[in-house]
Amino acid sequence: MSDRFFAASELAKRFGGLEAVRKVGFEVSPHEIVGLIGPNGAGKTTVVKMIMGLLQPDAGQIIFKGKDITREQTWKRVVHGITGTFQNSRPMKRLPLIANVMVSLYNPRVRRQGEWVKTVQARALDALEFVGLSDLALSPAASLSQGDLKRLEIARAIATEPDLLVLDEPFAGLTQSETRLLGNSIHRLRKGGRFGRLHSEGCAMIIVEHKLSELMRIADRIVVMHFGEVIADGPPEEVVQDPRVVEVYIGRVPQGNREEVQG
Ligand SMILES: Nc1ncnc2c1ncn2[C@@H]1O[C@H](COP(=O)(O)OP(=O)(O)OP(=O)(O)O)[C@@H](O)[C@H]1O
Ligand SMILES: [Mg+2]
Repeated sequence: MSDRFFAASELAKRFGGLEAVRKVGFEVSPHEIVGLIGPNGAGKTTVVKMIMGLLQPDAGQIIFKGKDITREQTWKRVVHGITGTFQNSRPMKRLPLIANVMVSLYNPRVRRQGEWVKTVQARALDALEFVGLSDLALSPAASLSQGDLKRLEIARAIATEPDLLVLDEPFAGLTQSETRLLGNSIHRLRKGGRFGRLHSEGCAMIIVEHKLSELMRIADRIVVMHFGEVIADGPPEEVVQDPRVVEVYIGRVPQGNREEVQG
């Protein structure tokens, strides 16, 4: 079992009297895109925060590249190859985009700072290029639209060259065409390749999302949560037909989105 790429098992998290997450487990293979869906409050963000090391689970285990990382600090997980974006992004608004990306690569132990800055600047620019924001590299983050902020978050994450990228609602606040563009970038990222000076062997992803039509287009597998538990795990076409999933979630998605899911 020690060669597993990513496996969460029996994860649990309680907030006071509320059991937000109960015995949640699922696996991700290299290069696989797993969608994590479910109604508001199902526990999705809590799960991905535990995966990124932003919340400590009360119980359960997280294995990454064969190693138990359940108690590992966030920055160490980044070094091992797990990075993510937050549901609510908080950029440093007065700083230019490029600085926002560079900060995610900051390493206090680098001795030759001059050289490091050059390398990191170049990498940050490539990450901005990848998400289509390089023209705005010198603009302050405060000037960005909601959609561009999402893209900035993704640039910050991919600049660290992750093997597992965790995205919490990457399409929220984006227009349909922005969503499609970002979906395509995500697809490219999975396959890997060379993006300027950034090199990626291709990266696996866990994507939390309510915009089901785009998620279904790019995900290989869908995990469905409801009241803190996993109620379905399988290929998108199977999961959307699952009566339980339809009952608790898809049947409740507003009409417009429901048509997209089935169409
Ligand atoms: N820090 C916290 N303190 C107390 N309760 C919390 C905390 N974080 C989350 N919760 C509660 O835990 C439950 C799960 O929340 P979570 O944010 O994980 O849901 P979610 O599936 O991401 O929902 P959404 O789709 O709305 O983002 C909710 O009932 C939420 O109110
Ligand atoms: Mg959430």
